[in-house]
Amino acid sequence: MSDAKTPWGGRFTGTPGEFQQRFGASLGVDARLYAEDIAGSIAHARMLAARSIISTDDAVAIEGGLLGILRDIEAGTFAFDLADEDIHMAVEGELTRRIGEPGKRLHTGRSRNDQVATDTRLHAKREALRLFGANAAVRATIHRLAEDNIEVIVPGYTHLQKAQPVLLSHHLLAYSWMLARDAKRLRNAYKEADALPLGSAALAGTTFDIDRGMVAHELGFSSVIENSLDAVSDRDFLVDLTYACTLGMVHLSRLAEELILWSTEEFGFITLDDAWSTGSSIMPQKKNPDFAELVRGKTGRVVGDLTALLVTLKGLPLAYNKDMQEDKEPAFDAIDTYADSLRAVEGMLATLRVNAERMAEGARGGFMAATDLADYLAAHGVPFREAHEIVGKLVLSCEREGRVLQDFTHAELQAASPVFGDDALATVAIDAVVARRTSEGGTAPGRVREQLALATAALARDERWLAERTGSSAVRRGGRREGEVLR
Ligand code: ARG
Repeated sequence: MSDAKTPWGGRFTGTPGEFQQRFGASLGVDARLYAEDIAGSIAHARMLAARSIISTDDAVAIEGGLLGILRDIEAGTFAFDLADEDIHMAVEGELTRRIGEPGKRLHTGRSRNDQVATDTRLHAKREALRLFGANAAVRATIHRLAEDNIEVIVPGYTHLQKAQPVLLSHHLLAYSWMLARDAKRLRNAYKEADALPLGSAALAGTTFDIDRGMVAHELGFSSVIENSLDAVSDRDFLVDLTYACTLGMVHLSRLAEELILWSTEEFGFITLDDAWSTGSSIMPQKKNPDFAELVRGKTGRVVGDLTALLVTLKGLPLAYNKDMQEDKEPAFDAIDTYADSLRAVEGMLATLRVNAERMAEGARGGFMAATDLADYLAAHGVPFREAHEIVGKLVLSCEREGRVLQDFTHAELQAASPVFGDDALATVAIDAVVARRTSEGGTAPGRVREQLALATAALARDERWLAERTGSSAVRRGGRREGEVLR
């Protein structure tokens, strides 16, 4: 016989062996929910007392005991007993050891099914805010980099072939908008998690005259989940949060790929700081972009996390099934990996050196003013398809002779088409090519400044939303900040 501790001993004559205990346990993963578990229990006990389901003395003893456990866990002096199956049983068991009988009354009208759903939602809300803050920090760094390099020109690519020159700031801001959408998904995940399952008990509700609204208020939930079966079996909010992490990682991975590419000798557009690079154990000359590569690589893991979570939920009958215990490991992994990756990307962006000269050099090659020459002809009455053909031939001749479009003389252009006037040569100057793209959302400096102002305003709005939920501002619910542990 093992020393497995179960609260259901009454119905059993045998106990699970050590393997079963280890296989069934989740404490190693869900110990992370200790603060939420304790907050949920305190709110539940207060409500039970308010409804005279337990005595006020019992509720006070429970609250004191739980706060003591919280203190010990946070001080690092609490020794988790691995014979406990999960955080809920670890905390409740310890509470009873510490305060005796009142501890045994805590679980009245409650099940671990609504308890774990409540803890996980509280945790998802808190983590969504943490990630939201890290996302905002990266956007602020992108904006600073764009501002500092507002008129630096870089080749723009399609198919990774030089296409048209753009401002580096324009290129960087494209990532700011991606990350702004990621922030929207995090905010949505936060809102999806913001409803209370507790009070649903195992699946059908409880016979006690409980007050779910009071518990929701105590814990900072905006509403109470309407259907007890749905409440204990819904993990959509966790899928939403994991998906927000996944697409966020995909965006960081694309950015990481550009950092890797741009820091090659062949590109040389940027130099990563030594602190964000590694060397080789054999090749003395090497400086490798390991951290960018890891952001790119870890994206695969997080995509796997989302898949694992979705496949775990697929096909589960109502209501709670133990399969659902497998939700936390992938979700927590996605959250932590995304948080770390945001930090790594922020660090790399904040410290990299922009090699504006190399970028300008790159922008001169590749015939990137060809569209502008064709546009010139089209603006002077030549049908665009014909103009395209004429300029195509000019490019071909350049390529054969090892020249660039900027090498042409006025006479040579006129020979290709009499429509080319004196001002045609000016259109191939690279900064003129950029400056001419004044359409809304285009890369002309004025448009990019406008865009930077919009991105900055969007970030400021997001930062305000976050401050209302985490800051020491006046926005407090139930006397404490949302998501904050009761203490
Ligand atoms: N550790 C469990 C989980 O994470 C808690 C809920 C267990 N409920 C049950 N009926 N066995 O899902």
